[in-house]
Amino acid sequence: MEIDGSTFIVTGGSSGIGKATAAKLVDMGADVVITGRDEEKLQQAADETGALAVHADISKQADIDRTIEECLDAFGGLHGLINNAGHGWTKPLLELEWEDFEEIYKVNVFGAAMMAQAAARIFVRQNSGNIVNIASTAALKGYPGGSVYSSSKFALRGMTQCWQGELRRHNVRVIGINPSEVTTAFGQASRKEREEVHNKLRSEEIAHAIISALEMDDRGYVPELTVHATNPFE
Ligand SMILES: NC(=O)c1ccc[n+]([C@@H]2O[C@H](COP(=O)([O-])OP(=O)(O)OC[C@H]3O[C@@H](n4cnc5c(N)ncnc54)[C@H](OP(=O)(O)O)[C@@H]3O)[C@@H](O)[C@H]2O)c1
Repeated sequence: MEIDGSTFIVTGGSSGIGKATAAKLVDMGADVVITGRDEEKLQQAADETGALAVHADISKQADIDRTIEECLDAFGGLHGLINNAGHGWTKPLLELEWEDFEEIYKVNVFGAAMMAQAAARIFVRQNSGNIVNIASTAALKGYPGGSVYSSSKFALRGMTQCWQGELRRHNVRVIGINPSEVTTAFGQASRKEREEVHNKLRSEEIAHAIISALEMDDRGYVPELTVHATNPFE
């Protein structure tokens, strides 16, 4: 696809991978909406990247609908969804409570699915579009303490494959991205970005992977991309 002149929604665009992706897309000539729950942080990211801030929580259907409406009002169309908003933590099975699943699943699974549905309604109608789901290497293999987060990303990865089957006949490309550890605010109680580490992934590497997959001519699509740090062992 041609990024220049296209319109994107990046959920969770106020920090980390979403913000880096939004910044690159704007630099390349796209119109971009970013969403997030912390309004101040979101507006700051919008000022820094040149994206439009839409204060929205992906776990609320009304916020999803409003995100789409505000995007269409501002830019008149939609060509790509970067389904990135997500969060997680580790907790062993023996300590889990019912509410732990609700907290993570309503964002990483239910919210991601309903956001994709809202975008897909437009994409099917216009017979083109792109959905990029940010899963994780936690979607490839479970680990101790990962019952909730890892399984939520397995679910997103599974849905990615379902939507590929459903939507490719409408010329809608669905792309799954599995980042390994990235030094963002993810999992940080402070919600502050981690210091950059020379041998660990930055948000820029994931933004690069997302945009590389999108840039391919529309006749082809990358079903899944996994990104690891080359040498995190030093
Ligand atoms: N960092 C890693 O090591 C890593 C590895 C693999 C996959 N991932 C995935 O990459 C994605 C981005 O994470 P990140 O590393 O960039 O972390 P991050 O810096 O914490 O960014 C997460 C973004 O999502 C937003 N968000 C969280 N819950 C939301 C909700 N309910 N509605 C709307 N926005 C919401 C956050 O803003 P607010 O909190 O203000 O809403 C923030 O903008 C996540 O899906 C994560 O699971 C991260």
